Parts: sequence; C-alpha cells; structure tokens
Amino acid sequence: MKIIVTKDYNDMSRKAANIISAQIITKPNCVLGLATGSTPVGTYAQLVEWYKKGDLDFSQVSTVNLDEYRGLDHSNDQSYYYFMMNNLFKHVNIDLSRTNVPDGTNPDPVKACEEYEEIVKSYGGADLQLLGLGHNGHIGFNEPADEFPNFTHCVDLTESTIKANARFFEKIEDVPTQAYTMGIGTIMRAKRILLIASGADKAEAVKKALQGPVMPQMPASILQLHPDVTVVLDEAAASLL
Ligand code: F6R
Repeated sequence: MKIIVTKDYNDMSRKAANIISAQIITKPNCVLGLATGSTPVGTYAQLVEWYKKGDLDFSQVSTVNLDEYRGLDHSNDQSYYYFMMNNLFKHVNIDLSRTNVPDGTNPDPVKACEEYEEIVKSYGGADLQLLGLGHNGHIGFNEPADEFPNFTHCVDLTESTIKANARFFEKIEDVPTQAYTMGIGTIMRAKRILLIASGADKAEAVKKALQGPVMPQMPASILQLHPDVTVVLDEAAASLL
C-alpha cells in the first residue's frame, strides 16, 4: 500500500486526478470505478479542467460507479447518477452508454444487484477503483457488519450514514434508507484501488482502516489485503497515522 500525504484538499484532489489521468493515458479504453460524495468533487473538477485543456480523452473510457440510493431516479438531484452527470460526465467526451451506475429505480433489489454485478463482470472489473471513506469505515455503502459481502447487494444504511448524508437533503426524512452497492468482493476485484480522504474528521477512520486489524466491522480495513492500493490523504486526515 502506498500512502501519499498532501498539504490540503486541493493538493489531494490534484494528486488523485493525476493518478486517474495516468490510468487514462496509459490505457485509453480503461474501466474506471467511480465514487460520489464530497471527497472526489475536487478530483473530478481537476479532470474536467485537464480535459478542457486537451490533455485528456474520455472517448474510450468506461465507468462503473460504486453505488446508488434505492428509489431515486436519474433526474433526482440527490441520485448518484445525477451527481456523476453534473460533476464529470456532462463536462467530458465520455460515451454515456459506457457509464454505469446501479439502477436505483429497479424495485427488485435482488435483480437490480445481480444485473449490476454482471455489468461489472462483463467489463472484467475496474482497472482503477476510486474510493472515498465513511466515518465508520464504510467503502461504497458497505457498512460495518459481521462479514464482508462479496457481491453487489442492497443495504440498509446506518443511522450515522443517514445523518452524514442528510446535509445534501432538505430534511433527514428525505434521505433514502437503502442503497444498492458493489460488494467488498466487487471492489477488491478491481486491479488497482485509489482511496482518498480529507479532513480531521476522517483521521480516526483512516488510522483504523490502514493500521488496525482487518475486520468487517471496519470494512475499509480489507484494503490492506489488496495488492495494489494507493491512498491519497491530506495532512488532517493523515494526522493519526
Ligand atoms: C460514495 C460512496 C461512499 C463515500 C463515503 C465518503 O459513492 O460510496 O462510500 O465515499 O461516504 O463520503 P464523503 O466523501 O462525502 O465524505
């Protein structure tokens, strides 16, 4: 595991975007695993800037996103599809038919998740999977549990995740209580992983994930067992290492 400590959020975003750019330049038809949330916003903004300067070409890139809220459709401004569209897809020359986000509108959770796992598999998994980190150590929406889920599945979001995500909604009751998420196995099958985290509020989760015991109660700790992980942190998030 390579750990890169950067000055601040902007520096973290630029370094993460550099790693993603290198992936696209060295393999133009790569499969990028993507994340939503606040952490990658600056990374996507940097990629868009480089695209606009002519330094990046997304025309052959495919993407698979980690997760989606159950029940939200593409036009809902809190859906992860909407987030991806607005933060990245609509600003670059990506072929939308090659972008994939779990289908939150499929009311059958088993079918929705099986179909998504098949899609990820049909691409041969992600070449590079970008991950943010939850305060409770979740990756994707794999919350602390008694086992590591292997495949894409439907999860009940924990109280702490609902509270953390409430900032994006008008009121807490509007936050969906379930999501479809890649499993830990789906994530671990990515060839390379790029984990990013910023801010002092993530420092404890970072320490437990990177230096604590590997256990499903701290889902991100499994990354210690992946052969090719790069972690980009700002100083605040790295402060307890
Ligand atoms: C988002 C995702 C989540 C977030 C995590 C951190 O697709 O899968 O695991 O990466 O909740 O969120 P932020 O970046 O908002 O702190």
